[in-house]
Amino acid sequence: MDVKIYDKLAKKYDLATKVVSFGIEELWRWMFVREIKKHVRNGVLIDVASATGEMARALDFERMYLIEPSAEMVRVMVEKFQNMGYKKEDFEVVFQESPHIRLKKGEKEIIIIQDTAENAVIEEKADIVTAFMAIRNFDDLKKGMENLKKEIKPGGYFAIVEMVKSDSLIARLIMWYMNKVVPLIAGFLLGMKEEYKLLGRSINSLEESDILANLEGFKIVKKQKLIFPIATLIIAKKDDG
Ligand SMILES: C[S@@+](CC[C@H](N)C(=O)[O-])C[C@H]1O[C@@H](n2cnc3c(N)ncnc32)[C@H](O)[C@@H]1O
Repeated sequence: MDVKIYDKLAKKYDLATKVVSFGIEELWRWMFVREIKKHVRNGVLIDVASATGEMARALDFERMYLIEPSAEMVRVMVEKFQNMGYKKEDFEVVFQESPHIRLKKGEKEIIIIQDTAENAVIEEKADIVTAFMAIRNFDDLKKGMENLKKEIKPGGYFAIVEMVKSDSLIARLIMWYMNKVVPLIAGFLLGMKEEYKLLGRSINSLEESDILANLEGFKIVKKQKLIFPIATLIIAKKDDG
């Protein structure tokens, strides 16, 4: 996905998402967090395509690595965490090229890596990788998922919520709304009609089976359609090595 669209959207992303989804995305996030906490309550988290850092805010793990390629999204999330009491720390990265920002609040630590899922390098293995509305944005699904899978500890989890193709009537109605109505709202509110047309098209780009095919080496412990049935939740557990 062209990151320039997200750069342009960054400052208004949280509000725009709530408005165009009528709060449904927040409901999905709440269901996702509830499901994740049944399996992993704390530890090391990698969140991919973090946008403005909402997953990190909702999960609040001890150490969180947030991967996000858009410089503007990174700016917005740093400001958000600073408003939550996190302080920026000096952080010398000697062996990597992508910008890193480290934030600390008491024992809690957030490391933001400005990079893609396909290329990010993480310094330690995670208890869980979370990808909320993330993976359809990867330029190379297989490469992105492989890169993340290798960063998960044996017995750790890959947790996904994603919009996927569906032929049901309600899904077709939602797609009509996303493709025809949302660009008009976005044009009116944000001056971003064309960008939202592109985002709408990306929603219909992925099959659930594409995701499952890339979860080799993992056991699916939960798979559920969310209300409405265009989003799917998948929790997969890595085989004990
Ligand atoms: C729909 S938003 C993700 C929402 C976010 N996960 C949340 O919890 O609100 C998609 C994000 O994917 C990012 N993105 C685009 N291409 C990417 C890539 N190749 N790897 C990782 N993230 C990417 C965009 O910059 C954007 O911030």
